[in-house]
Amino acid sequence: MKMSFQALGFLLILSFVHLQAATLRYTFVIQETNYTRLCSSKNILTVNGEFPGPTIRARRGDTVIVDVINRGDYNITIHWHGVKQPRYPWSDGPEFVTQCPIQPGANFSQRVLLSDEEGTLWWHAHSDWSRATVHGLFVILPRMGTTYPFPKPDAEIPVVLGEWWQNDIQTVFEDFFDGGGDPASSDALMINGQPGDLYNCSTSGTTKIKIDKGKTYMLRMVNAVMNNLVFFAIANHSLTVVGGDGAYTKPLTSNYVTISPGQTLDLLLTANQPAGRYYMAAKLFNGQPSSLFDNTTTTAIIQYNTGKFTPSSPSPIFPFLPNFNDRISAANFTAMLRSLATPEHPIDVPLKIKKTLLYTLSINTVPCATNQTCLGPGGRRFAASINNITFDMPATSVLGAYYRGINGVYGRDFPDVPPLKFNYTASSLNSSLQFPESGTDVEMLKHNETVELVFQGTNLVAGVDHPMHLHGHSFYVVGWGFGNFNRKRDSLNYNLVDPPLMQTIAVPQNGWTAIRFKANNPGVWFMHCHLERHVSWGMGMVFIVRNGKSSNARVLPPPPDMPPLEHLFAACILIFLIWKKIAQWWNVEDLRFRFKSFFNGNIRCSTAKMVMAQLISWRPLLPTIDDYDTVASLFHGIGNICNITAETCKYEVILRAFHWVLWNNRNSIFFRGSVSNVQSLVFEVKNNAFLWLKVRSKFGRHVNIDDWL
Ligand code: C2O
Ligand code: CU
Repeated sequence: MKMSFQALGFLLILSFVHLQAATLRYTFVIQETNYTRLCSSKNILTVNGEFPGPTIRARRGDTVIVDVINRGDYNITIHWHGVKQPRYPWSDGPEFVTQCPIQPGANFSQRVLLSDEEGTLWWHAHSDWSRATVHGLFVILPRMGTTYPFPKPDAEIPVVLGEWWQNDIQTVFEDFFDGGGDPASSDALMINGQPGDLYNCSTSGTTKIKIDKGKTYMLRMVNAVMNNLVFFAIANHSLTVVGGDGAYTKPLTSNYVTISPGQTLDLLLTANQPAGRYYMAAKLFNGQPSSLFDNTTTTAIIQYNTGKFTPSSPSPIFPFLPNFNDRISAANFTAMLRSLATPEHPIDVPLKIKKTLLYTLSINTVPCATNQTCLGPGGRRFAASINNITFDMPATSVLGAYYRGINGVYGRDFPDVPPLKFNYTASSLNSSLQFPESGTDVEMLKHNETVELVFQGTNLVAGVDHPMHLHGHSFYVVGWGFGNFNRKRDSLNYNLVDPPLMQTIAVPQNGWTAIRFKANNPGVWFMHCHLERHVSWGMGMVFIVRNGKSSNARVLPPPPDMPPLEHLFAACILIFLIWKKIAQWWNVEDLRFRFKSFFNGNIRCSTAKMVMAQLISWRPLLPTIDDYDTVASLFHGIGNICNITAETCKYEVILRAFHWVLWNNRNSIFFRGSVSNVQSLVFEVKNNAFLWLKVRSKFGRHVNIDDWL
């Protein structure tokens, strides 16, 4: 009798625990929305019209389903930064790593699986540079019936640190990408979407936060800035860090904080000063004098409820912030973070390491295409690499290829150690060390393998901090230092007792950082620098964590509504083939050089689209076409006349048709009447990635494209 009571109690507890984990649903409509900042208006990409985007609130262990609906004009993906997504990389979001983008007009219902994360995380777009405006907080409260490991704060204050360009962000990205140099600096920094009092036309919008004397507030902070670490402080008030990156820390009190792009912090603020108004302020940290950066300061106002303030009241007190180039302040703050390491929030630092990795992080340069002017050092293009490999974004997803066993998308031999050993942080380095290889290479990890990874910054081209972010896992930061890592010497000083558990860690300029984690999450996980310009230059790589033996240690199956990857992939390859033919046929060297890497087989969908657009806009300049109007009419609604030479026509027809098919997300196109004897084009996908194009001629026969071209 006693036994069954116990069993019943156990069952009750189980079902209670089970009931506690809720499933929540959110809708994210990606749309263009008009915003005015710094005296001018522009359309920006937003979620539900909000900037910063909506905050997701859930409890530890919940499942959040977000229906992402793309009503914008660009491909997009959304990433839940810091959510591990156990065994379910399908919803993780990095473009071409775990999914193909959600195309305009398409939807994707993403399942966000929370497990042991607790505290503040965030979400952001993970394609091109759209995360500049597409981001928001992701708040994870303690489970029902449990509480914080510190007195419950009286209220929460969101602090989303962002950046504003007066120019359209897609243009900023394209100019940066085409020019090969540094990106344009932003025009303002922002706290919760507002630049604050120190900018033109901004005072009326300045964020004002009202607080009550004696109360304690929790700041939920994220650095959503694109290209720099940030210093933040509040005048006359210290801040106590209690968590970050979705895990608690030992309380750490400081007058300022340093926060990396991608990183989150949970900070306590106690209203213990004379009633008044105080600025909170943030500015960028930039340790590399040769790189462009925005040196403005964003502010918001903390205002005590007991005071009376009128426009003529004295202006708020301004906080002290470290200098822009204060490397020591930047590194020291981060170095003081410690795990909470209590019985309720235990730590689990891997002590026996199975896999030891050393990855160099470098800025590189690559040659500029002939006939092009590049804005990087010495007229070259910037690049960036890990172990001398510049990550080449594939045109389909690595996860899709891995899960389905498709060859040729990625290689498995990412080097465990730098291919070339040299004095990484020497003040002058031979320029021959600067030229990286490009590749889509992954590091394969066994299920539950314990990994120690040391990031080694190099001084190639320009030494700079690299906030490294790993998807699918948190890691313990067990050590760091300036200069070259020396395993014998430096491993003796590791903190294996209470190292902070993080997901983004800034590797100091010309220094190193050692992290440890257990590869307990089967799937495909991107790891990259969270400085947007660096990841765009190729500072990324992929870990594949293999399935374990038991059935609950395997990657779960994909959802039915995964954005179509193969179709887009096929589309890009076909554009590439046609483009190659056309370039040959028109003999237009200019075009070829402009998109040299694409032409050499580096098929990126974004480039394919640019090629299409260029080709179409440059038509009037191109030689040897005698009847543009006719061809142009094909473009507008595919006509049925084609009185230029048959050879020309074939490619033109395919190009136009393909343009239509790609942009309308279709598989085939039928002509009314016929175009140069062609009645229909059918684009088919076979074996997931293989493209089969058939042409139906007047004579009713389907032929393979290879025979036809
Ligand atoms: Cu915050 Cu790969 O991302
Ligand atoms: Cu970097």
